[in-house]
Amino acid sequence: MRLRGSCSRVKLIKVRLDRPSAPFMSARLLRFFLRPEESRREQVLRFAREDPRVPAFPDTARRLVEALRAEDVAIDRIEEIVKTDPGLVSQLLRLASAPLFGAREIRDLPEALLILGMKEVRRMAGEVLVMNSLREVSARAKWEVFWLHSLLVGRLTQRLAATLREPEGWEYLAGLLHDVGKLFLTYYFPGECQLVMSTAMSNHQSLHEAESAVLGLSHAEVSAVLCERWKLHPQVVQAVRRHHEVSARHVAFDPAEERRLATCVYMANGVAMECARHLGPRRGVDLVEISKIEVQTLPGWRLFKEFGPREPVCLELEEEARAVVALVEEMRSSEEGKGGRTRTRRGW
Ligand SMILES: [Fe+2]
Ligand SMILES: [Fe+2]
Repeated sequence: MRLRGSCSRVKLIKVRLDRPSAPFMSARLLRFFLRPEESRREQVLRFAREDPRVPAFPDTARRLVEALRAEDVAIDRIEEIVKTDPGLVSQLLRLASAPLFGAREIRDLPEALLILGMKEVRRMAGEVLVMNSLREVSARAKWEVFWLHSLLVGRLTQRLAATLREPEGWEYLAGLLHDVGKLFLTYYFPGECQLVMSTAMSNHQSLHEAESAVLGLSHAEVSAVLCERWKLHPQVVQAVRRHHEVSARHVAFDPAEERRLATCVYMANGVAMECARHLGPRRGVDLVEISKIEVQTLPGWRLFKEFGPREPVCLELEEEARAVVALVEEMRSSEEGKGGRTRTRRGW
């Protein structure tokens, strides 16, 4: 019995050592991984809360979100914050000269900020910084598909939330990060993720139901734990945690704000899934097909309507789809410019 026990322990170590970051794993990290008494759920939560390789939330993004919450923020202030991140500066310059914004030559950062506009800068800066900080782990997933979806959900969540009440400034983060737990799970638990996919297919379950069956928790809960760790606003954390729960009538929400933002994310998620068939970074956007999407027929619309939008809902799907494709294109070309460096680096 003892022999068999030690064999399984050896096996467990072997599995961990197969992972790309393992050759550099310190004794402390090895101890961190090896806790056979834990359930899978406990292990996932511990990794999400404590693993030192989970990247920090980009401080520049946090400062920009804060600064741009004020409507009349001075452009100098934004320039001052953006300048602290040279990578962000070059990406904003390239984005401002993209065809979407008139394909003109941009000389400096203030000009780029003016062309993009404050709202756009806040979103793009947040998006670029978050994508940058998570690019290591994204390399394991189909990152273009993941980011196209997440960026679109972020933007649509922001638009939907604005029709219900004055924006608080963090709505788009809730949409942007709603599925970040999927990246985490793909990175740490690739085998279990494959099992989740096959379970979902054979049992005709949704992905988050299959995750709960296999792992004991869904990607939504993992996303929320990561947002908590990054000290994002509690409303973001709750909306992310419950973005698949809003359709379940029996689930109690308290306070109502939580349901409001979670419903916006849920609705935006449904719209983005519908759009996904008609856009891609290498094939652009099929504007004709996107324009045919009837938001009122999608899942989540009835729930969303219950909050009584104070103005007609206009999601500008074509415009948003083109913007997210441009962002992902930009990300891909900057990565290719580095010779695919991120795909060979280790860890988060
Ligand atoms: Fe989700
Ligand atoms: Fe999603």
